[in-house]
Amino acid sequence: MQTVRRYFPVLDSTNEEAKRRILAGDASHGLTIVAGCQEKGRGRQGREWNSPEGNLFYSLVMLPDAPAERMAELVFVAGLAVADALAVADVKLKWPNDILLNGKKVGGLLLETVHKGMKPAVVIGIGINVLHFPENAMYPATSLAAEKVALSLTELEERLANLLPKRYENWRKEGFSQTLAAWQEKGPSKAERIHFQSGGERVSGTFEGLSESGALKLKTDVGEIKEFWIGDVISD
Ligand code: BTN
Repeated sequence: MQTVRRYFPVLDSTNEEAKRRILAGDASHGLTIVAGCQEKGRGRQGREWNSPEGNLFYSLVMLPDAPAERMAELVFVAGLAVADALAVADVKLKWPNDILLNGKKVGGLLLETVHKGMKPAVVIGIGINVLHFPENAMYPATSLAAEKVALSLTELEERLANLLPKRYENWRKEGFSQTLAAWQEKGPSKAERIHFQSGGERVSGTFEGLSESGALKLKTDVGEIKEFWIGDVISD
């Protein structure tokens, strides 16, 4: 992957800039947009993403040679790459897009697909709380600084720029199963009790792993296995 890096001191959102470039025909595979801060940082499900200077705001454009229905697999590829880049033992992945450090959210991923021409383009947006974190977030948050992880913004970005293409190449050459297996080592333990919120529905049960396509499997208290693609795992 030939990466081309574009840096902006201020942007609305690195994902938005990446999507604008895709739609303008000005984005190659590997285009990386980085911002010093974001004025309209976005999280999943239309949420705001707190984006002060000192944290990492990073979006990578990918034009994978794979069918559109496989694009969602890339969120697992990116989660693993972030865990690799942080290189600290206590990093865990929370389905589908959260990066946890010592049980608190230190980063998140926002994957968006843009259709222009024959092949879908994917934007993988990565936000990591390096120096700052929001106090009143829905899920308890933290930063690398607060957890005493000595990794600067520059080092973190360099590590990600090296490690994300590696995880991507592994996915491309070996298929999804290796990525899924590696993700599950960093994800919740099987039979761990979880609560899941999807739209207005809240279901409690035990974590039963991921399906072949990456959906979350939950065993309800009456023993039924349910698969979810959209929603949030809620802590107790
Ligand atoms: C989430 O946990 O809800 C996902 C957060 C994703 C935030 C990143 S920061 C870089 C990129 N640009 C955005 O506007 N969002 C993503």
